[in-house]
Amino acid sequence: MKQIVASLAVALGVVACGGGSAGSGEWANTFDGPGDDLFLVDDDFVCLADSRYDVVGRSRVWNALGRQDQAVEHARSGAIGEYPVGTVIQLFPSEASVKRGSGFSPETGDWEFFVLDVDSGATRIAERGTTGIANIGGTCLSCHGGASAFDYACFSNTGCGALPFFIDTDVQPEEDDPRCR
Ligand code: HEC
Repeated sequence: MKQIVASLAVALGVVACGGGSAGSGEWANTFDGPGDDLFLVDDDFVCLADSRYDVVGRSRVWNALGRQDQAVEHARSGAIGEYPVGTVIQLFPSEASVKRGSGFSPETGDWEFFVLDVDSGATRIAERGTTGIANIGGTCLSCHGGASAFDYACFSNTGCGALPFFIDTDVQPEEDDPRCR
């Protein structure tokens, strides 16, 4: 009997965790390709003033697989072509694009899009995925798809169109980032 009560408690504990705040364990890694890949969890996203990021325009660029120079050079060049696997780009604290392994998502150029909840001062991945991830302006792909020749990144090319008028582009990302305070 004691044993049954103990296992019930464990089972209930697991249910309570699953239904509460989303831990990194909630997300399954769907990549099954043979090459390099980058599957990020909550704590991999930090304050945008962190030294891992290089500044390109108003965006922050990081390559988590050691290809920092290649990623930053490509972003700065504004050239057609692909980013190295492992590249993480953010313009706002609450959104990120991550270049996953080859074959992860042909529809989005292998980019995984994230909506991040940073209000608590830590990061919780609220949503992650590919064609279905959206913000108030529509799906990430609906705008970034216009820049497919530039590997779905906008920077100074005009493929993505414009940001909605109510976004204040004078604010640097970290000024808006509760994780930096
Ligand atoms: C309404 C169109 C639109 C939507 C929807 C949109 N973006 Fe963007 N995004 C842009 C534009 C335009 C820029 C360039 C803004 C600038 O640098 O001034 C941009 C910039 C970015 C950047 C910086 C790197 C780059 O491409 O310039 C990231 C990262 C990014 N967006 C991620 C996302 C994610 C993730 C989503 C979905 C949750 C999303 N975006 C949805 C239009 C959009």
